[in-house]
Amino acid sequence: MFRFRKAGLSAVLLSLAALTSAQAAPAFSGIGRDATPKEVAAWDIDVRPDFKGLPPGSGTVAKGQDIWEAKCAQCHGFFGESGEVFSPLIGGIQPKDMETGHVANLVTPGFPARTTFMKVATISTVWDFINRAMPWNAPKTLSTDDVYATLAFMLNIAGIVPENFVLSDKTIQDVQKRMPNRNGMTTDHTLWPGKEFGGAKKPDTSNVACMKDCAPEPKVASLLPEFARNAHGNLAEQNRPVGAQHGVDTTRPEAKVGEKPGVSTAVKPLAEKATTGAEAGKPDSKKATALLQKNGCTVCHGISNKIVGPAFTDVGKKYAGKADYLAGKIKSGGVGIWGDIPMPPQTLNDADIKVIATWLAAGAGK
Ligand code: HEC
Ligand code: HEC
Repeated sequence: MFRFRKAGLSAVLLSLAALTSAQAAPAFSGIGRDATPKEVAAWDIDVRPDFKGLPPGSGTVAKGQDIWEAKCAQCHGFFGESGEVFSPLIGGIQPKDMETGHVANLVTPGFPARTTFMKVATISTVWDFINRAMPWNAPKTLSTDDVYATLAFMLNIAGIVPENFVLSDKTIQDVQKRMPNRNGMTTDHTLWPGKEFGGAKKPDTSNVACMKDCAPEPKVASLLPEFARNAHGNLAEQNRPVGAQHGVDTTRPEAKVGEKPGVSTAVKPLAEKATTGAEAGKPDSKKATALLQKNGCTVCHGISNKIVGPAFTDVGKKYAGKADYLAGKIKSGGVGIWGDIPMPPQTLNDADIKVIATWLAAGAGK
């Protein structure tokens, strides 16, 4: 909480600084600095329903298929049909929906499934989400053209565009006119019970404050049902870093003149010195688990539960004492030992791999 409050405060200070620098007589000086155009651009990535903010670019269905198979299919399935890691993205749409702009299966009794493309009304939302958040284990790594291509492929397997379609900042307008649920978004409904169940007619969004004879104040609470606990691994281990971080890497010695700060190669970084425990063959669970989180391993592996990949404690049991084998496998990735889902090659440095492999080979304990 404290960290958020601090971030909020410096954002206010930054905008105050920007405000005052635009005026003639600055009321504050020496506080903060203007955000650089690059910093602003890194945050200003939203794409609106009228396509304001959409960067120019394009991509084909064929190219999108290659990207999909390499970077998306392991979690969403080859046809976007998988419910393994998240709800299915594709399915449930019929050709007629493209004419009406309403997805019939949303109100068909006996069709309980809900997929992304059944629900979403604006294609800009999907473009924006892939661009900012996917792939889940490496957000913001796709180029603009890659986002167009991947989305073109998704639209094709959803039956919305043909195989030879090229999605671009121009053609996306035509896609919007075909979005199966484009007329399905409404704020004129109650959440529960819905209109179709004879529920209250008053929409959620236009409430009038009660001034007398009011019902007792409702108690708002939230809980995680027992069955959902750990269904997707330990959420506490899955906080992702967002965007590039500016500043000096304080785990490393100060750079010499002419070197990039914090990435000096002339002196051995402190972070790697700290691995001597592992170099001597001793497991360091604190360091290993921090590395797992930093490198996104916990997106796919739980410490003691299977997610997409096996539980680390199971890996530890299977390969007790075999740190070298494990180090090799982390680097190369592989498939077929624990199931049909491949593990992509991992790109962390050898010292860090060694810390993880040593800890795994010792049983992946606390
Ligand atoms: C490591 C697993 C993983 C990979 C790889 C992955 N995703 Fe996802 N995807 C998820 C999860 C989990 C969510 C739900 C995230 C959330 O709600 O915050 C999600 C959500 C989405 C959604 C939004 C669905 C909705 O209804 O809200 C889209 C679209 C999507 N992914 C597309 C992609 C694309 C395109 C790729 C490849 C470039 C990709 N994903 C790669 C796990 C993954
Ligand atoms: C996108 C998902 C994903 C990510 C990210 C991921 N793994 Fe895996 N990992 C898998 C899957 C799936 C398997 C099972 C592969 C198989 O069946 O051969 C696996 C298997 C393994 C194995 C066992 C290999 C064997 O030969 O039995 C180790 C060790 C491992 N992963 C370590 C890691 C480490 C360390 C990281 C992070 C640096 C990591 N993984 C990141 C999905 C992933």
